[in-house]
Amino acid sequence: MSDKPTKETSPDSNESPQDDSPTIVLVGLMGAGKTHIGRKLAARLGTGFVDSDDEIESAAGCTISEIFDRFGEAGFRDGERRVIARLLKENRGVISTGGGSFMNEQTRENIAAAPGALSVWLRASLDTLVERTSRRDNRPLLRHGDKRKILQRLMDERYPVYGKADIVVDSDGDNADNVIEEIVTRIKEMKG
Ligand code: S3P
Repeated sequence: MSDKPTKETSPDSNESPQDDSPTIVLVGLMGAGKTHIGRKLAARLGTGFVDSDDEIESAAGCTISEIFDRFGEAGFRDGERRVIARLLKENRGVISTGGGSFMNEQTRENIAAAPGALSVWLRASLDTLVERTSRRDNRPLLRHGDKRKILQRLMDERYPVYGKADIVVDSDGDNADNVIEEIVTRIKEMKG
């Protein structure tokens, strides 16, 4: 799976990154609301928004499910790590990441090393995750077996690692605006 820069993402492109805007990396489990909150947060901050899963699909020319089928989870993780490294270099504003990406130590190091970048864990309860992930059937890790059991296992594995994020915000409930204001307040506190 290649990850060549496209015209609009190339460092040589005329669309230069917004150097003074913060890079905010949203992490958390499937169904935490990373894409929905990410889009609205970017609008609130006046920055760009990019979803790493979308970028992976564009780079590969197929869906995440197809990538899992063709290259296995390991192939997907490799592409995911490379795409997120590129997005961090491009300073794209708010980056919503796939739920497994922050489990990769290199990715966590890349986020920590990106100038001005902050990671934000959107923490959610099991009930919230089950409810939200039941709306669509596009996630390969949830295709086989009981969603609640799989998500519980992923919570056990991942929540200790997500807890390393710079900012932790609860994303249960329907009011995205409250979550966004909380994130904005916490970013301001962190940036001093
Ligand atoms: C995954 C989460 C998905 C996607 C892939 C694997 C995971 O993204 O990257 O299906 O390992 O948790 P979302 O968290 O955006 O659903």
